Amino acid sequence: MLGTPYTPHATRALLLGCGELGKEICIELQRLGVEVIGVDRYANAPAMQVAHRSHVIDMQNGDELAKVITEEKPHYIIPEIEAIATDRLREFEEQGIKVVPSSFAARTTMDREGIRTLASEKLRIPTSRYVFAETLEEFRAGVEKIGIPCVVKPVMSSSGKGQSVIKDSADIEKAWQVAHDEGRGHKQKVIIEEFLKFDYEITLLTVHAVDGFHFCPPIGHRQENGDYQESWQPQKMPEALLVKAQYYAKEIVDALDGYGIYGVEMFIRGDEVLFSEVSPRPHDTGMVTMISQNLSEFALHVRALLGLPVGQILTSGPAASVALLGDGDSANIAFDNVPEAMRLCPSSQVRLFGKPEIHGHRRLGVVLTRGETTEQAVADGKKVAGAIRIDYGS
Ligand SMILES: Nc1ncnc2c1ncn2[C@@H]1O[C@H](COP(=O)(O)OP(=O)(O)O)[C@@H](O)[C@H]1O
Ligand SMILES: [Mg+2]
Repeated sequence: MLGTPYTPHATRALLLGCGELGKEICIELQRLGVEVIGVDRYANAPAMQVAHRSHVIDMQNGDELAKVITEEKPHYIIPEIEAIATDRLREFEEQGIKVVPSSFAARTTMDREGIRTLASEKLRIPTSRYVFAETLEEFRAGVEKIGIPCVVKPVMSSSGKGQSVIKDSADIEKAWQVAHDEGRGHKQKVIIEEFLKFDYEITLLTVHAVDGFHFCPPIGHRQENGDYQESWQPQKMPEALLVKAQYYAKEIVDALDGYGIYGVEMFIRGDEVLFSEVSPRPHDTGMVTMISQNLSEFALHVRALLGLPVGQILTSGPAASVALLGDGDSANIAFDNVPEAMRLCPSSQVRLFGKPEIHGHRRLGVVLTRGETTEQAVADGKKVAGAIRIDYGS
């Protein structure tokens, strides 16, 4: 049953994380008449600007989180980010609140160790070679075992934070330091992965819904400094590799348990498909689906989590998303030259997230394009994004 906001029949969703992805989830929920309560650690976050109401709390603090859940009595708890006290979600799930996709998925994927162990050791899905290390001695031994070059990541981190590549033995201590300075939470553990010279990497959006498993066409993307720069759909790949990727994605999504969309990240090297990580929620590189599909990744997530059938995912040909990245210090951000930028590619769309502040690097918007080819769509998107001037005020 679906309700009406502000009435006794309301279907209430508590959105944990109110960034640009949360904003789109919120809009899709509202299209189906769901009452949305946004939660984040700062006021006026993008999704809060469209939610019915919101709370500012430290989501990593289990007691603060529990207090909001108890007060709002949501039917659904929808984590939009990893950095939340996921260990507290289980008790609410046991009380009958639906955690999306499941408290198990949220807990397992918030930590690189949980998901890597599940995929590689339990499901036997191929990944890069890896070891975990908790002390500097273990770390040195781990680097020795994996070999140089290798990639170092705090087990609790996202968006490339604390991540570095060891290219030379002189980098070892620095990599350990970077992982500790920039990692999230108190966990000191890091993962050391073999550096893969992959041909390309994909996000395979996989939906688990009441009418089964569904796959979006693979999305290709380019990462730089932990942030995706451009993504495109479809990523061309041999059918046999796509079938293999879909098989692994289904295994992982099935094991994580629960309805929703999952962004399954994989590397393709020769005829190998190697699993990297998975988000049990819409993925940033999947923003391209706002222009390429009849149902975006956000619409698909909402359909699945509400127990609605996904039906058919229709696509409209090559498309791209180009991130609009800001770099500055401001609480008074404005965008200039937007009409001129849009005229460079009349079929493009510009989405500005409405983030209230920037301190350093931050994604502030995205340009969406269609093209005859994905290469053309990316080139057009870059032209438009490049022409938008970000004004940081004074
Ligand atoms: N083992 C690896 N070898 C080569 N590149 C990697 C490896 N692991 C990660 N990367 C690159 O770094 C990016 C971010 O890594 P990822 O593990 O997805 O971290 P995050 O959680 O920050 O997204 C990947 O999309 C990929 O481009
Ligand atoms: Mg990633």
